[in-house]
Amino acid sequence: PRVLVLFGGRSSEHEVSCLSARGVLWAIDPDIYDVVSVGITRTGRWTLMPHGVPRTREGTLPAVPEDGETVTLVQTRVGPRLMLLPDDVDAGAADVVDADRGRTVDLGGIDICFPVLHGPYGEDGTIQGLLASVGVPYVGADVAASAIAVDKRQMKHVFAAAGLPQVAHDVVRRADWERDPEGELARIEGLLEYPVFTKPARQGSSIGISRCTDTESLRAGVEDALGYDRVVIIERGLDGVRELECGVVGNDDPVITAPGETIHTGASFYDFDAKYLEPVKLQCPADVPDDVIERCRDYAAQAYDAVGARGLARVDFFYLPDSDEVLVNEINTIPGLTPQSMFPPVWEAQGVAFRVLIDRLLAYAME
Ligand code: ADP
Ligand code: DAL
Ligand code: MG
Repeated sequence: PRVLVLFGGRSSEHEVSCLSARGVLWAIDPDIYDVVSVGITRTGRWTLMPHGVPRTREGTLPAVPEDGETVTLVQTRVGPRLMLLPDDVDAGAADVVDADRGRTVDLGGIDICFPVLHGPYGEDGTIQGLLASVGVPYVGADVAASAIAVDKRQMKHVFAAAGLPQVAHDVVRRADWERDPEGELARIEGLLEYPVFTKPARQGSSIGISRCTDTESLRAGVEDALGYDRVVIIERGLDGVRELECGVVGNDDPVITAPGETIHTGASFYDFDAKYLEPVKLQCPADVPDDVIERCRDYAAQAYDAVGARGLARVDFFYLPDSDEVLVNEINTIPGLTPQSMFPPVWEAQGVAFRVLIDRLLAYAME
């Protein structure tokens, strides 16, 4: 089968995607799959990446070139195919896909896609919708599940409906904030005690997230998060919390790992730098009591089912050792696959090597 690996993309997690994709390209079994790699620029243009299979898993990929050749995926009489568009194509839609006039070059059929994309326009159902509409099976959650999981507000609604325990939170909408910021600040302060976390509803990798300890830092946190989304989540900040994460793979009968723990000593929370730029300690499985492990697995299964996930996901928890509470923080339907990420090692700890894991994900996509 021919696999299209998509990476980069329009979101703020473009670079993280390049780190994840390098490992995926390295891991795909060349004896089974023929791989074609397409980098999506920050403006959303698909470009053919000339690089071959990386020799190592670690490292990034060459930057997606802004001037690379444009490709597109189209349904044809003989199935979904990747087409190379000539550079001189103008914006006229009729010209863009006009193989008869030799204006496009057929790069061959595509049997399956692995979207290694994080955040908006990748993990949120948009790419999944494109793939579904041209009839290409893909790794991971479908349109609806992706859209729910990427949106922390909708995700929390769905988790609440499933009875999953979560941290207390509220929402600020951009229009309300612009109309009456003082009123919004007073409302939040009446509902939640400091510290609080401010988060854009649809982002990942801790981008746009702040820990706020007073009115002025709350104001700054909301303003910053509103730069990413028109909806901002405000959460009660948990101190002395431990962060546990379970890997899930499968379709109807998903398999769930024991949780791993991210131990970040430097940063006050697991921010972008702590995730990717500083050495991070991952403990797999987490050194926590057995009943905590079981609660995480149970909640992970419920969270996966609640959003309707498929293929893979990582479900993240806050564990409060003093009160012995496990709260569900979030689900990620395209979890980081970088060498610093938690998803690969939680599987390795259960004896599933990264290459085997990637192979299973491709197989689930074709089920
Ligand atoms: P992202 O989708 O960007 O990963 P998260 O909601 O997981 O966003 O938050 C990123 C990190 O911020 C968490 O891993 C944790 O370290 C910290 N954090 C988020 N919310 C809270 C909270 N309510 N209390 C304490 N720490 C938090
Ligand atoms: N959003 C990042 C990639 C993660 O969840 O791992
Ligand atoms: Mg997170």
